[in-house]
Amino acid sequence: DTVDWDPGDAGKGEYDHYMLKEIHHQPTALSNTIDGRVDDGTVAFETPLSQLVANIETVQLVACGTSYHASMFGAQLFRSAGIPTEVIRASEYEAMAGPVDERSLVVAVTQSGETADTLDAVRKAAGRGAKSLAVTNVVGSTAAREADEAIYIRAGPEVGVAATKTFSSQAVTLALLSQRLAGAVPDATPRADGNAMLEALPDLPAHVETVLETSRADSLARDLLEDRSYFFLGSGLGHSVALEGALKFKEITYEHAEGFAAGELKHGPLALVTEESPVFAVYTASEDEKTELNATEAQSRGAPVVAVGPNDHPLVDDADAHLSVPDTHPVWTALLANVQLQLVSYHVADLLGRPIDKPRNLAKSVTVE
Ligand code: G6P
Repeated sequence: DTVDWDPGDAGKGEYDHYMLKEIHHQPTALSNTIDGRVDDGTVAFETPLSQLVANIETVQLVACGTSYHASMFGAQLFRSAGIPTEVIRASEYEAMAGPVDERSLVVAVTQSGETADTLDAVRKAAGRGAKSLAVTNVVGSTAAREADEAIYIRAGPEVGVAATKTFSSQAVTLALLSQRLAGAVPDATPRADGNAMLEALPDLPAHVETVLETSRADSLARDLLEDRSYFFLGSGLGHSVALEGALKFKEITYEHAEGFAAGELKHGPLALVTEESPVFAVYTASEDEKTELNATEAQSRGAPVVAVGPNDHPLVDDADAHLSVPDTHPVWTALLANVQLQLVSYHVADLLGRPIDKPRNLAKSVTVE
């Protein structure tokens, strides 16, 4: 599989930062990610994968940083498709991963394809007999070369150290892979309607465009500059997005941010909740009650609550602010909520005068353990 890079990708163009350019490139990136891979409810990648997945019974996703959050997101979809799936931080592979053998597929989710911990985890799994697949953005990367097979997320080059469009393209690629594997793994009994997710997918790039055109993240950011801590909570897919929202926020604003599962609020983070700790409540559908309950709890302790999700949700009326996303399949509202949070982090960092594209101490690709 080859990807034609747009020569216009070489500079920042009309944007002040690569990060903002890359956030705005997401409709195109996602169209490329999806292009030609879904036909009549069936997912097919350029690589047939048939041999690789023929005898697979379990999956392990291994990744670091933002790619780990995309993997959490993906793992939930794999499990919904009936596939027993673990998701493991690559640096913790030895300590945390369950056993693997030739009926296991280990999936390295790595934008660069060069992250040392991720490569190391796949090598360990492969050494124990597992099959391996790289999900990466870079053709010819080490992960792509070393794995048995590779599929590309086709996000185009990402320059900003803080990953944005590659997260979205990874999440969509993994959603597609969940459906590809559902048909291949024996005894996979889906818990969720994968077809509905696939049917809503072609509209996703346009929905991202709507978020980019209508987002009020820039004006909200002005009210968020004087706080002490920033909390991000959500449940299910909203949990993955909350973790990613907090990571992005701390990476580029240098402010303390923490993401957690909504129901964990009262098991610790609540001790830190004050009027100076805005809470971003990420939800995907109207029945997302855990997020609502816990956001309301934080609000009753004085924290300003920002609801992030579609309009049809009780939190919209109760919250102090709302970042709206189009109403679509809940898997995709989660991704759209993440786009809103990317914009929040960007605008807060910009107003604080941070060096957005190259945060201190961080590297785009971490090739040491
Ligand atoms: C670094 C980058 C992150 C990225 C992580 C994993 O920490 O700053 O943005 O998510 O590495 O990178 P990978 O290339 O494996 O996706």
